[in-house]
Amino acid sequence: MNVLHICANPKPTEESVSKQLAAAFFGKLIELRPDVELVNTDLYDEKPPFYSYELYKRAWYPIFDESYEPSKAEEMAQNYAAKQAEAFNAADVVVLTMPMWNFSVPAIMKAWMDQILCPNLTFTISPEEGAKALHKVKSIVLLVASGGVYKEDDDRDALTRQVRHAFGFIGIDNIEIVWADGQDSFFNMDCDARKEMALEAAAETAEDIAELELTAATE
Ligand SMILES: Cc1cc2nc3c(=O)[nH]c(=O)nc-3n(C[C@H](O)[C@H](O)[C@H](O)COP(=O)(O)O)c2cc1C
Repeated sequence: MNVLHICANPKPTEESVSKQLAAAFFGKLIELRPDVELVNTDLYDEKPPFYSYELYKRAWYPIFDESYEPSKAEEMAQNYAAKQAEAFNAADVVVLTMPMWNFSVPAIMKAWMDQILCPNLTFTISPEEGAKALHKVKSIVLLVASGGVYKEDDDRDALTRQVRHAFGFIGIDNIEIVWADGQDSFFNMDCDARKEMALEAAAETAEDIAELELTAATE
């Protein structure tokens, strides 16, 4: 099983609840599936560029204009996206680790999504067929921590919705979410209990992923 881990958190693990969720998830997954091929990408070490006009042209002009030939600059503008998309397409499972910042994904994670969600890299697109996957990702696991407490379908939550819709667009509907909410200790006296519950949920999600892949492999 190939697993790609994308982490968007600049803090060390001891200060980051979402990174602790990742440690619990991968600890259990590797215990159950020692054969797992894990690729770790720390976005603060491999920073994505912001979307540029050159990348826009390289990505989208071929869809509308068969005669388009990219310039050298446009070709190079796709280097980061192409490398990251290759890792994405090779994965069976993608794990996204991040804090909630300003009710959404950290900007560095959004920049990575803008890079890889690119036509002819992770999907094809046409008026006849819409978007079709070029990847084989079966599940996305989202490991997130927030200061506030969020109920299901909370209007303030732009994070889980964005992840669901962005990856749903390229055919990934199985999104497993482990959310340590209420981590702001000023307002939530039960923040430690909430974290413990989320750590357990992370390990249980790893069990589901290990089982899901085992079932798929024997089909
Ligand atoms: C820049 C910044 C913005 C934040 N925005 C929110 C927010 O919109 N909603 C929320 O519930 N918590 C917010 N928080 C709190 C974090 O989500 C919370 O501390 C969480 O535990 C961070 O995850 P981490 O422990 O993995 O770093 C914010 C924190 C920072 C530093």
